[in-house]
Amino acid sequence: MLDPSASMDGTWALPPECYTQAQYSKRENEQVFGTNWLPACRVEQVAQAGSYVALNLGGEPLVVSRDQAGQLHAFTNICRHRAARVAPEGCGTAIRFSCPYHGWMYDLAGKLTGIPQGDGMTCFKREENPLPAWHLEVWDRWVWVHPPHASPGLLEEQLGPLQNWLGERLADFHWVETREYRIGCDWKVFVDNYLDGGYHVGPVHPGLSAGLLGRGYKTEIFGSASLQSCPMSGPAEGGMAWYWHLWPAWMINIYGDTADTNLVLPDGPGRCRVLFDWFMRGELEPGRVARALESSDQVQREDMNICEEVQSNLASRFYRGGPFVPKRELAGWSFHQNWARAMGFGLKGEKDD
Ligand code: FES
Ligand SMILES: [Fe+2]
Repeated sequence: MLDPSASMDGTWALPPECYTQAQYSKRENEQVFGTNWLPACRVEQVAQAGSYVALNLGGEPLVVSRDQAGQLHAFTNICRHRAARVAPEGCGTAIRFSCPYHGWMYDLAGKLTGIPQGDGMTCFKREENPLPAWHLEVWDRWVWVHPPHASPGLLEEQLGPLQNWLGERLADFHWVETREYRIGCDWKVFVDNYLDGGYHVGPVHPGLSAGLLGRGYKTEIFGSASLQSCPMSGPAEGGMAWYWHLWPAWMINIYGDTADTNLVLPDGPGRCRVLFDWFMRGELEPGRVARALESSDQVQREDMNICEEVQSNLASRFYRGGPFVPKRELAGWSFHQNWARAMGFGLKGEKDD
């Protein structure tokens, strides 16, 4: 089992099969994504009565909606009848949801309100069968949800010191764009890449590395969260780039007048989706926004290429996992510890050989 006193120096990264085998991705949906709070959408997307967002989190379709009384709800987006999606994926407004398969009707709180030709049904009571409700909280500009669970942890505990640290820092930032990247790698490969303390920045991102003082890279661990930071150079000299990772798979990055969030979601074995939201402050002049998105997109493409290469090699019979570099990979090591703990596994160490 996991040895909490293990040092990073004596510990190896997770064995490759944890990134490649379907049995792990199935368990992760339950034990990692099924037991944590995840940001489902921005509050502004469900600001109006009747507005909703339908999405898929960790393999589970759900709806976040605001009813006519102004109350927010989150519930599973799978019809009680034959499992069609009740609300179409994306954002919209509705008075109620009518299942596209046989027309069962649900209100904006997920209650089953109508069954066409259902008057002969005596055993199934519609009032006893709402769509399963998810736990919901609002923090900062996001609606956070937790899958149905008898005793969910507190969002506040999951956020830890990020809550105070963020404070009003994003108050004058405006959302500018959302993009989804579909990547041919396990979600943990993408997170590993993010959490290597800037180790890959020089070789993989020559453009980005010109704007960062790599030698000033610092990593701090706060429970299951981590903060990597680095002084910026060039035109942004004097500023800092901040990279928060919140267990299991949400990042918030702030660098000068631009910020972005990344939600990394498994998409079946060996694949993931990364939802990016960009925010900027100051004049949102189209040329300025386009330039910021273009340079960020360039960095994502560089990361995607290396992540997909890594994923394809993890299945080799001749690669057995590798050690951590203590000077850089503290946050990655901590991530592997958290994963092993959540899954009930120990980490493979030198002594296991
Ligand atoms: S699956 Fe929804 S009404 Fe039949
Ligand atoms: Fe990168």
